[in-house]
Amino acid sequence: MKLCMIGTGYVGLVSGVCFSDLGNDVICVDKDKNKIDLLKKGKIPIFEPGLSELVIKNFKNKRLKFSSNLKKSINNSDIIFICVGTPTKKGGSSADLSQIYNVAKEISSSINKFKIIITKSTVPVTTGDEIEKIIAKKNSKKKFSIVSNPEFLREGEAIRDFIYPDRIVVGSNDKKSNRILKNLYNPLISKGAQYLNTSRRAAELIKYASNAFLATKITFINEIANLCEKTGISVEDISIGMGLDKRIGSRFLRAGPAYGGSCFPKDTKAIISTADKFKSNLSVIKSVIKSNENRSNILLKRVSEILNNKIKNKKISFLGVTFKANTDDMRDSSSLIMIPSLSKKGALIKYYDPTGFKKEFSKIKNVNYENSIKKTIEDADLVIIHTEWNDFKSINFSKLSKRKKIIIYDLRNIYSVDKMKNQGLKYYSVGR
Ligand code: UGA
Repeated sequence: MKLCMIGTGYVGLVSGVCFSDLGNDVICVDKDKNKIDLLKKGKIPIFEPGLSELVIKNFKNKRLKFSSNLKKSINNSDIIFICVGTPTKKGGSSADLSQIYNVAKEISSSINKFKIIITKSTVPVTTGDEIEKIIAKKNSKKKFSIVSNPEFLREGEAIRDFIYPDRIVVGSNDKKSNRILKNLYNPLISKGAQYLNTSRRAAELIKYASNAFLATKITFINEIANLCEKTGISVEDISIGMGLDKRIGSRFLRAGPAYGGSCFPKDTKAIISTADKFKSNLSVIKSVIKSNENRSNILLKRVSEILNNKIKNKKISFLGVTFKANTDDMRDSSSLIMIPSLSKKGALIKYYDPTGFKKEFSKIKNVNYENSIKKTIEDADLVIIHTEWNDFKSINFSKLSKRKKIIIYDLRNIYSVDKMKNQGLKYYSVGR
């Protein structure tokens, strides 16, 4: 099939490349010419394990193309995926849909034959109705069909999530579009993915409700972890015990720092804003946001306790600063709250991240990047393990540290409490 992905950000690029790998002809379009030129040279603008190899392979065999010519790309395709960003509106909490509507206008003047137009971007319920209105201004309704097909990829696991999705959600009542899309996704359905055909509005809401629910699960276990710390229980036992109940499930029950990234913080705010518009109160999600916003304060208080309330001039080292492992994404990472706060209190901070230096900290006093784990932790009073990269999972702290007394605060529960104690290390973790 001939596909056009509009927007070569996370969603557009990963799904475009994976669709081409399944044998489709895919054009990835972006108005950023520079980005397109780099992609044509095999240079990938985002960090995603395995993506570069797939781009190079499919670009070479000519199933994957890159272009900044939107009109031509639309003309040559049967299915158009809108994959542009829907960030939080500046100074507000709702999703900024300006890029979506601009693209819809451009599509409306480029339709030469029947097109299936799909929103893959995360868009509030009723956005599909608006897109339909925009396109219908210039085109007969027989010439296009607007479908919602939300994306459930996780950064760092995106390719696996694309190939082995739990479910594929297609929101449309149009029989022709549904037949074509089921065919497009058939290679994944035949490997076990559930295919759900529903209404367009339901598909839009499924995406937000899913992200909000996962954010709720994480926030829930983080609060339970606080209670575990006070009662001498391991939160991991609680996660296992709860997760064995099939109604609950074991995934997304890992306690840790505040959740972050480009999706959960943005989407939880946006779903509340949508509900407000429809005069509906999502009080559970509101309290999830509040609890998550307070999470970094709780962890910072614990840092203070660990250091006997003496933070000034203490050497604190961060291992990993991105919002999670296997990504270079800093968006809404809890390190953006924790590091500036500790620097303000006079701590001397070093950090190491497998994805390198972060400009976000360049102007913060006494915060320095080191290019190895050793250099980062050798003279630290306290090492904070902030992300769960494999690189951090078997560090010989006693060997790398010049200090007699190294303290470790493991925010991802990577290490076993007993093993660390047996090595004579002062070790703190979350909910244990
Ligand atoms: C999330 C969803 O998981 C995807 O299904 C969705 O497609 C995506 O948002 C999106 O809307 O585009 P992502 O933000 O890439 O994916 O990352 P997650 O793996 O979900 O992690 C989000 C945050 O939750 C991270 O800060 C992570 O450290 C935290 N987390 C996750 C926990 O603290 N505990 C867990 O058990 C799981």
